[in-house]
Amino acid sequence: MRASTKHRFCSSILCLTLLTFFPLATSKDTLSSTQSLQNNQTLVSAGGFFELGLFKPGTTSGWYLGIWYKNIQETTVVWVANRDNPISNSSSATLKIGDHGNLVLLDGENGNITWSSNETQARNPIVQLLDSGNLVLRDGNLNRNGQKDQFLWQSFDYPTDTLLPDMKLGWNLSSNLDRYITSWKSTEDPSTGDFSFKLDYRGFPEVFLRNKQSITYRSGPWNGERFSGVPEMALLDGLQFNFVADSEEVYYSFSVRSNSESFYSRLIVNPSGELQRLTWIESRNIWNKFWYAPKDQCDYYRECGPYGICDSNASPVCKCLKGFEPKNLQAWDLRDGSDGCVRKTKLECSKDKFLALGNMKLAESGGAFVDMNMSLEACKKKCLENCNCTAYSDARISDGGGSGCAMWTGELLDMRQYAEGGQHFYVRLAASELDGDGKTKRLIMIVGIVVGIGILLAGLALCFVWRRKLAVMNRGRIEQKGPNERSQDFLLNGVVITSKKESYSGERGNDELELPLLDFNTVAVATDNFSDENELGQGGFGCVYKGTLVEGEVVAIKRLSKNSGQGTEEFKNEVKLIARLQHRNLVRLLGCCVDMDEKMLIYEYMENKSLDSVLFSEAKRSMLDWQKRFEIICGIARGLLYLHQDSRFRIIHRDLKASNVLLDGELTPKISDFGMARIFGRDQTEANTRRVVGT
Ligand SMILES: *[C@@H]1O[C@H](CO)[C@@H](O)[C@H](O)[C@H]1NC(C)=O
Ligand SMILES: *[C@@H]1O[C@H](CO)[C@@H](O)[C@H](O)[C@H]1NC(C)=O
Ligand SMILES: *[C@@H]1O[C@H](CO)[C@@H](O)[C@H](O)[C@H]1NC(C)=O
Ligand SMILES: *[C@@H]1O[C@H](CO)[C@@H](O)[C@H](O)[C@H]1NC(C)=O
Ligand SMILES: *[C@@H]1O[C@H](CO)[C@@H](O)[C@H](O)[C@H]1NC(C)=O
Ligand SMILES: *[C@@H]1O[C@H](CO)[C@@H](O)[C@H](O)[C@H]1NC(C)=O
Ligand SMILES: *[C@@H]1O[C@H](CO)[C@@H](O)[C@H](O)[C@H]1NC(C)=O
Repeated sequence: MRASTKHRFCSSILCLTLLTFFPLATSKDTLSSTQSLQNNQTLVSAGGFFELGLFKPGTTSGWYLGIWYKNIQETTVVWVANRDNPISNSSSATLKIGDHGNLVLLDGENGNITWSSNETQARNPIVQLLDSGNLVLRDGNLNRNGQKDQFLWQSFDYPTDTLLPDMKLGWNLSSNLDRYITSWKSTEDPSTGDFSFKLDYRGFPEVFLRNKQSITYRSGPWNGERFSGVPEMALLDGLQFNFVADSEEVYYSFSVRSNSESFYSRLIVNPSGELQRLTWIESRNIWNKFWYAPKDQCDYYRECGPYGICDSNASPVCKCLKGFEPKNLQAWDLRDGSDGCVRKTKLECSKDKFLALGNMKLAESGGAFVDMNMSLEACKKKCLENCNCTAYSDARISDGGGSGCAMWTGELLDMRQYAEGGQHFYVRLAASELDGDGKTKRLIMIVGIVVGIGILLAGLALCFVWRRKLAVMNRGRIEQKGPNERSQDFLLNGVVITSKKESYSGERGNDELELPLLDFNTVAVATDNFSDENELGQGGFGCVYKGTLVEGEVVAIKRLSKNSGQGTEEFKNEVKLIARLQHRNLVRLLGCCVDMDEKMLIYEYMENKSLDSVLFSEAKRSMLDWQKRFEIICGIARGLLYLHQDSRFRIIHRDLKASNVLLDGELTPKISDFGMARIFGRDQTEANTRRVVGT
């Protein structure tokens, strides 16, 4: 204590000495009312964590007064004073304490005020940049010790896009001060952007991410341990989250528990509207995206409408609560759940019952009623007595169970269900929906029998149709004719592409396949007569060449070997399948070529070749960081999900391996090579495989 006083005394002497000779020593953390900060001078917090000064982001022309991390090379600005009012000429800018005890930023010769803080009554105001990154204005006459929070003004009350540790996001209700973060307009433009993250203190308080006025995501109410919509918050080490809701204040904040001084963590709204928690990885000199939102479809606000529950592990993601049905069935079937659900049975007030749902994100709670002292049992009773009450839950959860009471009235909005995490939520339903009384049971039984018989009949009918189709297909194969039956030739960008009405799939009728047919000469020219330089690789059924069409388009050409016994069948299979499949994560078939016994497939060309060529190459491996690898895995999974479930046919690849996953210029994975695939018709649950194939 004494030592630190002495130290401070010494440094004041030092400052005084320096002041005599220079207008300002460049690294100090305080400005008195007689001093000013000019041009490229900066304030540095006592521990050297943060720096305040003028900066010019990216290629913009304006200068801004901001605070950034002193120790991080890549300038990371955490606060901007004049974000909407840049200074054009930094050499004439001045920061000082103004006549009204406030901090002012002056621009230019005329001394115009570009930005100022709130006015204060202090007689000897001083400005200090603290180690927390907080720029404060305090009364220099008051003893610093024991006056910790008596700031006349602080930058923490006027956040930019960043929430730093111990900074409050939320309200001081007595002064009506609302602190919230707003994105930069772009990464190079600090002016106020469209996205904000702002706490709503009404009801059961929660925080909303907004794009201008419209909500895009909500955190869910604070349940004592975490936000109801962020179950993973419980797992974060090194960080501690705080939420205070009393008569004076409602706010959220976090603090760093780690002992390491250089453990930096910040929460931002980025210019494209994503909420991100970034942590500094010192060894690699990068900001790592530790957490973000919205994360999945179910994070998007009101994805499934009133009384809809979103479950990102289900497909489709929206479902209605038990006892509810889709309001707009047509849109619902097209997977637009935003109209939500309606009750099947009207509520009967005191006779109603409650349906317990587990692992939930609580419904939107701005209108909810909260009593921290009530038990859950009393909560249920109170909810039952109020005919407007539609749901209730614990207001706080903890390991041993919950406490308190939160009650919802009116529609229940923006709920989602997690595989784990989440909390209990009790929804009011008409008693008959829960009991399943005699009448509905009988109805269900009758419906069940009718549906069963229907399925049986439909199955038989499909079987019949399938057999006939097979017969037609076989005939079609035999009848297939030479290339001179092309019905239509047309010139496209100088390349003759012949389209043929006759489909090569062998399937007829509605499913006619129209795919550009290239003639053999075009392909030969494109690949320089199948030269070795253009060979990309050797596949299971032949060679793959790189080709350049006359108009410059680069393609990959798979030339099936003539002697491959299975060639024709596999070829037809592949053409038939791929031509109908369109998905971001599948290789697109652009055309094909059939000439005498030559069969070729023309695909889009993938700059980065196959996944294994990148993965197992010393030189290229570094292209794939963990984030990228994760994205690739997700992409492959999406492609497979499409093949298995979402496409018109049910397709099993049967030879999925790294060399069959291609990467385009942006490293988007694309599954290729369906030669081995077989159709599983929707009406078939099982198919016979005669050969042992694939990986
Ligand atoms: C500050 O600006 C002056 C001229 O405006 C320049 O000479 C000086 O090198 C700058 N100092 C630093 C530390 O950038
Ligand atoms: C900026 O201000 C300085 C000092 O007032 C002046 O000398 C200089 O010409 C100005 N520069 C521009 C581009 O206006
Ligand atoms: C400064 O203020 C004066 C008078 O208020 C105005 O005419 C002038 O354009 C201002 N200058 C700048 C650079 O904003
Ligand atoms: C403080 O200044 C801000 C603008 O910087 C303003 O919105 C706010 O109303 C002021 N508060 C008071 C108490 O004057
Ligand atoms: C809230 O604002 C009032 C009025 O400005 C102030 O007196 C009080 O200290 C503030 N409360 C907190 C917790 O900062
Ligand atoms: C809740 O209980 C605490 C102590 O048990 C009491 O101080 C507080 O006033 C109660 N709050 C309400 C809203 O009844
Ligand atoms: C129920 O809602 C209706 C209409 O919204 C309102 O008039 C009535 O006062 C409410 N009843 C209770 C007990 O809150």
